[in-house]
Amino acid sequence: MQRHKVYIIRKLRPSELIEVVRINRRNLPENYPIEFFRIHLENYSEAFLVAVLDERIVGYIMNRIERGELYTRKLRYGKRGHIISIAVEPEYRGIGIGTSLMVQAMKNMKNVYHVDEYYLEVRVTNNPAISLYKKLGFKIVKTLKSYYLDGEDAYLMAKSAY
Ligand code: COA
Repeated sequence: MQRHKVYIIRKLRPSELIEVVRINRRNLPENYPIEFFRIHLENYSEAFLVAVLDERIVGYIMNRIERGELYTRKLRYGKRGHIISIAVEPEYRGIGIGTSLMVQAMKNMKNVYHVDEYYLEVRVTNNPAISLYKKLGFKIVKTLKSYYLDGEDAYLMAKSAY
């Protein structure tokens, strides 16, 4: 039987925080206490999105808005949309959910929070994620040496919001 592939992207509800924490722990080595997720939901709720399929949360994206020097326009200060964490459950990967989460979150960060650019860190060996970001127009700005706790380097990737 063919798998049902119709999903929706919507804002995370506070009652669903624990489900996002579980997806984070199952799919990424970078884990955080639930309070970290709660603070992002409280402060940037328009940019904390989930993918729902078969009445289940199967993916999420969590972001934060920062002010500082822009990576895409040197010597200019502005608002940066920082993509903190994104994950899709393994059985639901490869059908566009990660792309949809990114695209919708970037739209909301621009339209609601008026960011000038988006940026993120990604493990230099995480090819699926790196190709997703490149496909969306992100460029590698620099390498952050030993960025992760296990010593792996990160790429800092950024994209202008204009
Ligand atoms: N190998 C190489 N590229 C891949 C890939 C794979 N196994 N899976 C996805 N991609 C890339 C492709 O460029 C793809 O575009 P295409 O379908 O046009 O080729 C693009 O990602 C988007 O695919 P999509 O189906 O929208 O993404 P997804 O729903 O599979 O989610 C991740 C992508 C990265 C969110 C998912 O793999 C994931 O949750 N990984 C574990 C958590 C993680 O690494 N998060 C990122 C931390 S920075």
